[in-house]
Amino acid sequence: MLQINVNLDTKTILVTGAAGFIGANLCKELLTTVKGAKVICLDSVNDYYDVSIKEYRLNELEQLSRSVTTGSTFTFIKGNIADKELITDVFSTHKPAVVVNLAAQAGVRYSITNPDAYIESNILGFMNILEACRHSYDDGNTGVEHLVYASSSSVYGSNKKVPYSTDDKVDNPVSLYAATKKSNELLAHAYSKLYNIPSTGLRFFTVYGPAGRPDMAYFSFTNRLIKGQDIQIFNYGNCKRDFTYVDDIVEGIKRVMQRSPEKAIGEDGLPIPPYRIYNIGNNSPENLLDFVDILQQELIRAGVLPEDYDFESHKKLVPMQPGDVPVTYADTSALERDMGFKPNTSLRDGLWKFAQWYREFYMKEEK
Ligand SMILES: NC(=O)c1ccc[n+]([C@@H]2O[C@H](COP(=O)([O-])OP(=O)(O)OC[C@H]3O[C@@H](n4cnc5c(N)ncnc54)[C@H](O)[C@@H]3O)[C@@H](O)[C@H]2O)c1
Repeated sequence: MLQINVNLDTKTILVTGAAGFIGANLCKELLTTVKGAKVICLDSVNDYYDVSIKEYRLNELEQLSRSVTTGSTFTFIKGNIADKELITDVFSTHKPAVVVNLAAQAGVRYSITNPDAYIESNILGFMNILEACRHSYDDGNTGVEHLVYASSSSVYGSNKKVPYSTDDKVDNPVSLYAATKKSNELLAHAYSKLYNIPSTGLRFFTVYGPAGRPDMAYFSFTNRLIKGQDIQIFNYGNCKRDFTYVDDIVEGIKRVMQRSPEKAIGEDGLPIPPYRIYNIGNNSPENLLDFVDILQQELIRAGVLPEDYDFESHKKLVPMQPGDVPVTYADTSALERDMGFKPNTSLRDGLWKFAQWYREFYMKEEK
């Protein structure tokens, strides 16, 4: 296991996409476990999905920040990472030591109808973060000690070899979203080499959990089933996904944040890029039909759906969608070796927690 070389205590930590699903959970963890940190949370709070969920997450963070005993503080900045002036200003005002870039336009299918949103947030926005990291070292300043950023399992495209390893070739994206995430890894590599920015890219695998993203299958299926609508199961159910519970993702990010790639000078007298990539996935893919079965059982157990729900009549098996891939399966050996950690929440436990949250959030008044 790698030694901790970035102590987060008392550091200024910038988290972008902090009103998002993963970002808000990460900020919660930082506020409650890191001592005396300044957690700067930035998000544009866009309306890609129901803004009330983002407001709920931000509200939770604000409440939490008032009661934490760690001495860590929470500052929220509403803004767009594609706004270069704003990002330059945030970096020069707050001087973050650790940056976690989670802000992005997510989703595979939306990139077919809204390509511009991906170029703006994932390419221009990420470039602004890289440029700000680069200039954080100006005038001999210590600057950014570690840039951690979200990539995605979608970079593996329709690779046949499983489990997906970070050593595999990933030059065949099948969606614009995947192409932008792979581009992030390439841009980060170039900037790590040119400006010696320690950077780690994280390829997340289908993250789910309470207060998650309504555009993802477990959440949208629940919304539809409740209304008595059909759910579409793509590729006739012959898909496998490595579902990863959000707490495991957060634990992985936090461990990675504390272990930045070491700087070193190569034979050419120039920096060897302090650059790493990891998969964070459950390393245990589930068949889509089994996943919907477990989801249904947990929704019934939590009282979201009635005991006698006619589930079979709402299940429609349909062909594969453009941009989708038949299987995702993470090889997590590098994460285990370097971070001493591997996600371990079972799909049933994770969906149970989601179902309980869903009941609380949407069905409170019915209790
Ligand atoms: N959830 C998953 O299954 C998954 C899988 C692989 C990768 N990822 C990546 O992880 C990151 C976080 O994903 P998430 O599931 O929390 O998504 P999310 O959509 O819930 O969170 C992203 C947040 O970023 C904000 N945002 C978007 N564009 C922005 C911009 N230009 N400036 C500032 N804020 C902006 C959004 O308002 C949102 O709150 C993303 O980069 C995503 O691509 C997620």
